[in-house]
Order: sequence, then structure tokens, then C-alpha cells
Amino acid sequence: MIEQLKTKLNEIENTYISKLQNCASSKDLQDLQVESLGRKGALTELLKSLKDLSLEEKKAFGPLSNEVKNKLTALFEEKAKVLEIEEINKTLNATDIDLTLPAFPFEKGKRHPLEIAKKRMTDILKGLGFVWAQGPLVEDEYHNFDALNIPAHHPARDMQDTFFIKNTQKKDFVLRTHTSGVQIRTMQKQKPPIRIIAPGRVFRKDALDATHSPVFNQIEGLYIDKNVSLADLKRDLTLFMKGLFGPKAQVRFRSSFFPFTEPSVEVDVKCVFCEGKNPTCPVCKGSGWKEMLGAGIVHPNVLRNCGIDPEVYSGYAFGMGVERLAMFSLNIKDIRNFYDNDVRILEQF
Ligand code: FA5
Repeated sequence: MIEQLKTKLNEIENTYISKLQNCASSKDLQDLQVESLGRKGALTELLKSLKDLSLEEKKAFGPLSNEVKNKLTALFEEKAKVLEIEEINKTLNATDIDLTLPAFPFEKGKRHPLEIAKKRMTDILKGLGFVWAQGPLVEDEYHNFDALNIPAHHPARDMQDTFFIKNTQKKDFVLRTHTSGVQIRTMQKQKPPIRIIAPGRVFRKDALDATHSPVFNQIEGLYIDKNVSLADLKRDLTLFMKGLFGPKAQVRFRSSFFPFTEPSVEVDVKCVFCEGKNPTCPVCKGSGWKEMLGAGIVHPNVLRNCGIDPEVYSGYAFGMGVERLAMFSLNIKDIRNFYDNDVRILEQF
């Protein structure tokens, strides 16, 4: 009995080896695999006869049939790969696709230098404990001017001349001239302690030159708590400038005027392009310093306008020009380079 089975096993092996070698398509190969090794295939059928064998015979025949099964399985896999490659080649030969041609160039985008610089600035400020706040670009006159202690007749409105928008609600709107309106919006919503930054675009009727643009970005900062003084402002802004320009950065505080801060300061950074040695420097105009931001101690009227008691709380605020700081930190001499979209410049960052 066992000898008969062995002969049959041999026959199955030889038949299917020769059949699979002559197989010409993947489909035929699959059918052949089912026919030989499938649930109702030749080998499975043969193994059903095992039940008639003695235990000794089963032990002898079992490994032999497994050997044949493994050998055939491996040959089917090998042949399947060969046929697959043959079929792909056949398809490709029938078309005009030339796989040897190089792929189309794929240009990868990256962050704009202004965004790179803005992120560095906001990261430093976040490290100093400030959290993000936002306000609208089209702002009402109350938040952009009145609540900031700039009444309608105040000359500061002329200095920040902008684009007015008449509205059906009979309320006048402006394209915001600075981010300081976000101070008001934050203090109206939130009680102290407050420590926010508000980055965003602002608009003015300024003529375009190397350091001015009619649309530019500011980052507003506001810190309100008990006993906040000018010393806190100087400490935090000096830390910020050194974080951005390195520990050797030179910072200068000049007294100034803003209707919404008292006292007010302007903060300059030593010109990194000429250090004051070039009288025709297009960036500092030979002064050696470049104004980066305005700041000061929040005016008591502004706190009162927002329902905060100036006898209990005090605070500082600042508004920095992102482009000016970005020009200095990235060594860009002309603000227009940010907006011209000249890839030769943008690619450098
Ligand atoms: C203001 O806008 C005040 N809101 C800043 C402020 C906030 C003061 C909080 C006190 C408290 P100023 O007009 O100076 O201030 O503008 C601030 C900064 O924006 C300037 O220092 C400068 O860096 C930048 N800046 C001003 N005008 C332009 C412009 N046309 N183009 C590019 N940057 C400008």
C-alpha cells in the first residue's frame, strides 16, 4: 500500500513540476496551484488515503508528502515572480512609457523668511511666559484709537493715517494701524494677571522705502499685574533682543510719546550692517541705531476704559515691527525683499 502511495506521490511531483514549468500565464499558474495543492487538489486527495496506513507507515509517509508539498510551493512562488516580471515587461513593451527617463522635478515649498523670523520672535516671547491673542484686521475706531486714549482730534491719528471703511452700522472701521487694539480686546475679556502677545498685519498710508511698507507686521505685547514697572519692561525687552540677536546685542531705550502709555519709550538696536560707521547706510541712515519698537507703561486711562483699577494694577505694553527685526536678524537690507517674491532671495533662507 505504502509503495503505491509513494509512486503516486512521485507522479504528482513530476507531473506538476513539468506542468508549472510550461505554464505561460499567472492565471494558469494559479489554477495549477489549486489543482495540485488546493483543498481538493491532487496531493490533498492522496493524503486522504493515509487513514488506511498503519502508524509506522504514516510516520514514514508523512514527511515524504510534506517534502513534496514544500518543494512544489517553493517552485510555484518562484515561477509566479518570473511570470509577473514577464507580464509587466510585455505591458510596457506594448506602450510608449520610457521608464529610463528622469522623473519630473518636484519643487518643495518652505517657510517665508518673514514667517521664519516671526516664529523665532514668538518662540522667545513664549519662553518669557506670553500666550497668544488675536484681534480683527478690520478694526472699529473705538478699539484702534478711542479706547487707547487717542480721541478724534488727537494728532496721533494723523501719524497713523490709514484706510477708513464706512459701514452700514454707522460705525467707522479702519484697517488697523497697529496691533494695540488687541490690548483693549484682551483687557475687556480677561482680568489680570494678563501676559499676551498678538502678532499680525497692520496697515498705514506710509510710502514704501528700504525700511517702511504700507502693510507690515507687528507683535503686540501686554503684561498687567500688581506692581509691574518700567524695570520689568526693560528686563523683558533686553532678554528678548539678546535672545534674537545674540548676547552681544546692544539695546537702547529712548524716551518717547504714545497716548496709551506713560512713560513711553522707543527701543533701538545697534545697526548690525554698519554699526554707525557708514554715513550713507540705507538701514540706519548713519545714526548707528535702528528703531525696532515702541513701548511703555500702560496709561491709567486705558486701564480704566477696560474696567481695570489703575490703583491696584499696572502693566507694560510694547508693539514691535516684525519686518524691522527680521531684516536685522536675517541680514536683509531692504524691506521690499520680503514682498517682491524673488525666489533667488527667498531660496537663501
Ligand atoms: C505703534 O504702532 C505702537 N502701537 C507701539 C506701541 C505698542 C507703543 C504698545 C506702546 C505700547 P509705532 O508707530 O512706532 O508704534 O510702530 C511700532 C513699530 O512698527 C516701529 O518701531 C517699527 O519697527 C514698525 N513700523 C512702523 N511703521 C512701519 C512701516 N511703515 N513699515 C515697517 N515697519 C514699521
